[in-house]
Amino acid sequence: MGRLNGKVAIITGAAQGMGAEHARRFIKEGARVLITDIDAAGGNALAGDLGANAAFFQLDVTSDAGWAAAVAEAERRFGPVSALVNNAGIIGSVAKCADLSEGEFNRICAINQNSVFLGTKHVIPSMQRAGGGSIVNISSISGIVAIYGTPNVAYAASKFAVRGITKQVAIEYGKDSIRANSVHPGYIKTKMMTDALDEEGIKVASASVPIGRVGEVEDVSNLVVFLASDEAGFITGSEYIIDGGLTAL
Ligand SMILES: NC(=O)c1ccc[n+]([C@@H]2O[C@H](COP(=O)([O-])OP(=O)(O)OC[C@H]3O[C@@H](n4cnc5c(N)ncnc54)[C@H](O)[C@@H]3O)[C@@H](O)[C@H]2O)c1
Repeated sequence: MGRLNGKVAIITGAAQGMGAEHARRFIKEGARVLITDIDAAGGNALAGDLGANAAFFQLDVTSDAGWAAAVAEAERRFGPVSALVNNAGIIGSVAKCADLSEGEFNRICAINQNSVFLGTKHVIPSMQRAGGGSIVNISSISGIVAIYGTPNVAYAASKFAVRGITKQVAIEYGKDSIRANSVHPGYIKTKMMTDALDEEGIKVASASVPIGRVGEVEDVSNLVVFLASDEAGFITGSEYIIDGGLTAL
């Protein structure tokens, strides 16, 4: 018996990286998943690999109309949505505050932060039809503390905001059995990391982590599956740091 049997999930930014692993794990655990991303080639390839319980829908998470269409598509294919993983995100330009343009600040916040508002807003009526649900918002340790290496203030601001949206949604919809929690990864080995750090940089990052390594996508999926499952039925409005001990230092 899968831990997510009967669940219908939407996962954003799921064509690669952590989102793709969440999609694989959700399917293994019995969920039906609408894989969404701006990357249609990657998303379609993954959905093709995962079989009939997966489908791809091209969604730019900054688009209000796109979200309405994605939720309608999930319902049409699989039924009311009972899990949402707001995972899509970007790091944006590496720049200190005085060097960051207003346009770049707004672009990063639109993708990392406004998207979580839009996704939640559109999914809640569907979760109410489903009789409840779980929203898992992917923030970062940059949403918990200031970190050397955070690319810019917009990344920090947007990841802190995700934590705030999560808590507010949790108290607004708890009585509808809709839970919301945020996940705060440290260094996780994905394209986002390998674009930002070379081999030497990854070694230095690994050495700085108390557990002695950077995280793998599977580490984060273990937590996301748990939060989406009924095992986490009394957990809402909480933040989960998954960083190998980095922020405990
Ligand atoms: N990798 C890390 O070390 C790390 C650490 C902390 C938090 N995070 C967060 O985890 C999440 C996933 O990161 P990842 O490392 O898997 O990144 P990734 O770059 O490998 O994947 C991100 C995905 O998001 C998609 N995307 C980008 N803009 C989009 C948009 N406007 N609409 C829809 N999809 C869009 C991309 O196409 C890509 O498939 C992000 O929110 C990121 O900020 C990552």
